[in-house]
Amino acid sequence: MQKDFLWGGAVAAHQFEGGWDADGKGPSVIDVLTAGAHGVPRRLTETIEADEFYPNHEAIDFYHHYKEDIALFAEMGLKCFRTSIAWTRIYPKGIEEEPNEAGLKFYDEMFDELLKYGIEPVITLSHFEMPLYLAKEYGGFRNKKVIDHFVKFAKTVFERYRGKVKYWMTFNEINNQMDTNNPLFLWTNSGVTLKEGEDPREVLFQVAHNELVASARAVKLGHEIDPDFKIGCMISHVPIYPYSCAPADILAAQQAMHERYFFSDVQVRGYYPGYAKKEWERNGYHLEITLEELADLKQGTVDYIGFSYYMSTTVKADVKNEQLENVVNGGMENAVENPYIEVSDWGWAIDPLGLRYTLNNLYERYQLPLFIVENGFGAIDELEDGTVHDQARIDYLTAHIKALEEAVDYDGVELLGYTPWGIIDLVSFTTGEMKKRYGMIYVDRDNAGHGTLKRYKKDSFAWYRDVIKHNGISE
Ligand code: BG6
Repeated sequence: MQKDFLWGGAVAAHQFEGGWDADGKGPSVIDVLTAGAHGVPRRLTETIEADEFYPNHEAIDFYHHYKEDIALFAEMGLKCFRTSIAWTRIYPKGIEEEPNEAGLKFYDEMFDELLKYGIEPVITLSHFEMPLYLAKEYGGFRNKKVIDHFVKFAKTVFERYRGKVKYWMTFNEINNQMDTNNPLFLWTNSGVTLKEGEDPREVLFQVAHNELVASARAVKLGHEIDPDFKIGCMISHVPIYPYSCAPADILAAQQAMHERYFFSDVQVRGYYPGYAKKEWERNGYHLEITLEELADLKQGTVDYIGFSYYMSTTVKADVKNEQLENVVNGGMENAVENPYIEVSDWGWAIDPLGLRYTLNNLYERYQLPLFIVENGFGAIDELEDGTVHDQARIDYLTAHIKALEEAVDYDGVELLGYTPWGIIDLVSFTTGEMKKRYGMIYVDRDNAGHGTLKRYKKDSFAWYRDVIKHNGISE
């Protein structure tokens, strides 16, 4: 691995900061989601209700523990740390003329603390954190005015943290929302709920267009503010395999991959792919797309591709499943179980070779540097004598690191870094649980919000420190 490889860890503001209404922060789209469980969706409440439990409100309270936590990250030897800036700390409703100084100050101090230890911040502008006000009053990214509010937010933080932050990403896992069967994704990506009688795909493509314009304008502006900024997109990458070598299965997988690539095709190339335009034409979709916006897409292409990798999916041409029990199908109705792959307790396929395959696919398609900004093993951990023996997590991460090393050292893929997800335990995004843990640092807090919030080092803590020290596993 190259000497400046960015070994790090990743989190998102809403999943670990807590302090959901501290120092002027406004509520975001996540703050009205209750806790769910595997197979039990999180509920979206109309407002914040007094007798409901919202796991993200306190999360693991990094807001009041950041010095202690960053000292632990430094002890691990992290070279970088990926988090997001909670949009509602800066603009509580999204529409204010002036930003909230207390929110800006929090991130100033946090970045200073990271930089004190030589840890490079890697920042997502929006990780499912749109102001609730914009979602409720404006309809989220259905409304083109939200583009301007997002760009204003981006401008504020680009200008403020210039000199402290170099690596940015616009929208986290922007392509999740292609799965319109699960209302969680359109809501958290874009602040959108579907109305009765609407064609979900038509809504999706309009919302996607508005958000892609917002992303492109932010990238363009960021480059003007500081030409040294590296600004990436961030996609959830789940490679889709054909079930067999039958040509119909191969084609089914290739077609399904369009769902995964749609957003990055635009963010990298600056124009819409043919398969999307044909779908709009075939279905008679009326999308509001101006020539000026198309020009913006061209001018705001990204510098690198950030992506998450957790699992793969397999499709078969001649089946149609509603939902397979224990298989996360990513909205693919022809998804089938892969007989060669084990799944986690949450139905996520464990497939390290799929990471090498993914790195090669993305690099061959786009020829841009890649950054694995999420990967990890969500599991139940038991605290015993002040530690957790999380060998299964170490095995998972070891296999994935070996796969990325092969992709870099053998296949020649350009990879900037690797930030395993949830370096410290946090609230699960899809389920709202605490018990689905990813961290190398255990946090004493349970699903109901009880616990001391005390931090403990798991076995994976020392293991990862050694990986970083030796610049990988294979060297
Ligand atoms: C990604 C998200 O989907 O995967 C994170 O960017 C999320 O926010 C992570 O936490 C793991 O998912 P989950 O549902 O296990 O927390």
